Amino acid sequence: MTSTDFTQVDVGPTSPIGATTRRRDGREKVTGTARYAAEFQPEGVLHAALVTSTVPSGTITTIDTEEALAMPGVHTVLTHLNATPLFPALLFPFGAAFQSLLPLQDTRIRFSGQPVGLVVADTFEQATEAATRVRVAYRTEPFISDESHPDATTFGAEDCGKVQEMVPDLVRGDPDTALAAAPITLDVTYTSPRHYHAAMELHSTTASWTPDGSLTVWEPTQWTAGAQATFAQWFKLPLDQVRVISPYVGGGFGSKGGPHPHAALTAMAARELGRPVKLVLSRPQQFTCTSPRPATRQHLRLGADRDGKLTALTHDSLNETSFDDLYIEASGTLSALSYAVPNGRTRYRFSRVNAVTPGSMRGPGETIGSFALESAMDELAVALNLDPIELRLRNYADRDQLFDKPWSTKGLRRAYEEGAAAFGWQERDPKPRSMRNGTELIGWGMAGGAFPCYSHPTAAGVRVHANGTVEVFSGGSDIGTGTYTLLAQVAADVFGVPVDDVVVRLGDSSYPEAAVAGGSMLAGSLTPVAHQAATAVRDELIQLASALPGTPLHGRSAGELEVNQGGVCLAGSPETGLRFTEILSASSRELVEAVRDTFGDLSEQDRMSNYGTLALLRLPAAGTHSVYSWSSIFAEVGVDEELGTVRLKRLVGAFDCGRILNPTTARSQLIGGMVMASGAALLEAGVVDTRQGRLANPNLAEYMVPVNADIPEIEVLFVGEPDPHSNPLGSKGIGELGMTGVPAAIANAVHHATGRRVRDLPILMEKML
Ligand code: MOS
Repeated sequence: MTSTDFTQVDVGPTSPIGATTRRRDGREKVTGTARYAAEFQPEGVLHAALVTSTVPSGTITTIDTEEALAMPGVHTVLTHLNATPLFPALLFPFGAAFQSLLPLQDTRIRFSGQPVGLVVADTFEQATEAATRVRVAYRTEPFISDESHPDATTFGAEDCGKVQEMVPDLVRGDPDTALAAAPITLDVTYTSPRHYHAAMELHSTTASWTPDGSLTVWEPTQWTAGAQATFAQWFKLPLDQVRVISPYVGGGFGSKGGPHPHAALTAMAARELGRPVKLVLSRPQQFTCTSPRPATRQHLRLGADRDGKLTALTHDSLNETSFDDLYIEASGTLSALSYAVPNGRTRYRFSRVNAVTPGSMRGPGETIGSFALESAMDELAVALNLDPIELRLRNYADRDQLFDKPWSTKGLRRAYEEGAAAFGWQERDPKPRSMRNGTELIGWGMAGGAFPCYSHPTAAGVRVHANGTVEVFSGGSDIGTGTYTLLAQVAADVFGVPVDDVVVRLGDSSYPEAAVAGGSMLAGSLTPVAHQAATAVRDELIQLASALPGTPLHGRSAGELEVNQGGVCLAGSPETGLRFTEILSASSRELVEAVRDTFGDLSEQDRMSNYGTLALLRLPAAGTHSVYSWSSIFAEVGVDEELGTVRLKRLVGAFDCGRILNPTTARSQLIGGMVMASGAALLEAGVVDTRQGRLANPNLAEYMVPVNADIPEIEVLFVGEPDPHSNPLGSKGIGELGMTGVPAAIANAVHHATGRRVRDLPILMEKML
């Protein structure tokens, strides 16, 4: 497909698509009937506990399992001495595995917290206790705790093959010359620590094998197809012998985009024992064995003329990665296209540390990248004595200069205007320390945000059963974002039935393959194809109805009939019709079903060879236009003049996410993103113990995330319009957009309150002193 001009679905004013409805899975969740992956109890399930390394680097010299094996209820202790082979899985984004580490395949220790053993027992308590009795001795080797370590070195993406193609270093014009010639320049470095997803639901795997060698896995995942492919690769199984089930996910934020090594180990144990095995990570293990956002160091240089017109912008970004893998935190992506700048460069460098391979966390790249870019723009506005919105408007990019394409829809101007109006920005005295409330210095800051609109070929099925039930099914996951609700709305639109009556089945790899619930792409990839499938079923129902003899519908053309309230009727006369139940029964049909996909003319073979990968990802500028979601964020902080405590007082976000499919779930996504990004701004930091080479705060007591008391009134404004270049429903991504711009808006507000520019996240009280 070469055009992004998708034929738009006609969404009428009374359509349930776009209407405010309650969250479809809300009742199940609050009453505890929603069954999360770890709550499945296959018959005879055994419980596992992980043993993890206590040193960051070296080799295992001896591992003594005798005492653990003698503990009550213990069935086995897997170590590198008795583990069975695992085969490499394709790494994200070429596959779905986040880490190349194959657990227990050798004695090498790469990071503190690396899985070195798995104890399996009758009960969780027995396994957990016995895991403490496994004695591991190490020969330790020098380690690199973090990027500040004296032996840490950095390298560029040049030698990184495929990864480098993904996020190439980009140059436009001649930034160095332009910087040297610019009358106003800014040369600043921003840093951020490791960030952890801290999802409420712990990672878990429950694995069960059939005697003929098929594997079923219950695992919370954002991507059933990706997880299915990864397990198939680890165990060299055909795809159809692996099934991954994940009906609900209690927070993923990227960490559940693909399985981590402990999942392979659990399935290995289940196969060895011939019994189902369940592993639920402990909270500290969740920190140390799954992939966090890496620490970053971003160097920005801005050149501008005296009117604030940018002449050059360079963004050199460094992130930690592991010794096993290269992970790119693509912090420069927004810098390359957010503003009209003739000369620019984005470049990536990496530093290997003894830590788990980092991975995607909500708004990977853009969250932290926008902190740097939008802080730098604020610094430039201060240097030029310009209003920060005015500076942004003077550099407004009317076109995507990176890909040299027009934007599809860009509501950023409206976002600035309406966000500013809602916040009361015009009341702001631009002078730092000019606003106060008692002992509190008050600061107002703003920032812009954006997120690329990706999509991925996706399949969905729809059935109408003989009893009239309308059912939608897809392998896609609902990670709390609203997928269940949106699919019910889509079917309700097509069949004219109440949203609440639609049955939606998700999160099972045995359903049609769907995109990852990540990169903010699932709603836009899945709802249009579900609409197609539903329309096909509707058309067949109409055909069946007109074929039924002895009814007023008999012999009518499709154009004379329509679907209304769960039946087919004469167009315009809902009273003259047949219920779906009547049509199916009279046609002797159990159900009418259609499965549709957006894989185009891809052969079945090509489709399967790309299964569970992102190789078919449609990039934001793949078509005639460049498709992004846009935002403008306004923050108010209060900084206690004596104590230095920073309180967030107000947040207003104005967002262009195209057509809003459901205001309830969209707003909830955006608020969630703003809350999470407030954590990044003010609280969240993985603290590295540089002497021990390990994370010092792998728990929710010391890794601070925002709680209710930290979060003020948040206002969300929708300023977008349906985007004909994004997908047939005109929606754009939401989940990650809520993050971008927020840390910068808060940091800019802190500067406005205090005159103190904090370039190192999080903005803790000691940085106010
Ligand atoms: Mo997200 S970090 O794309 O799951």
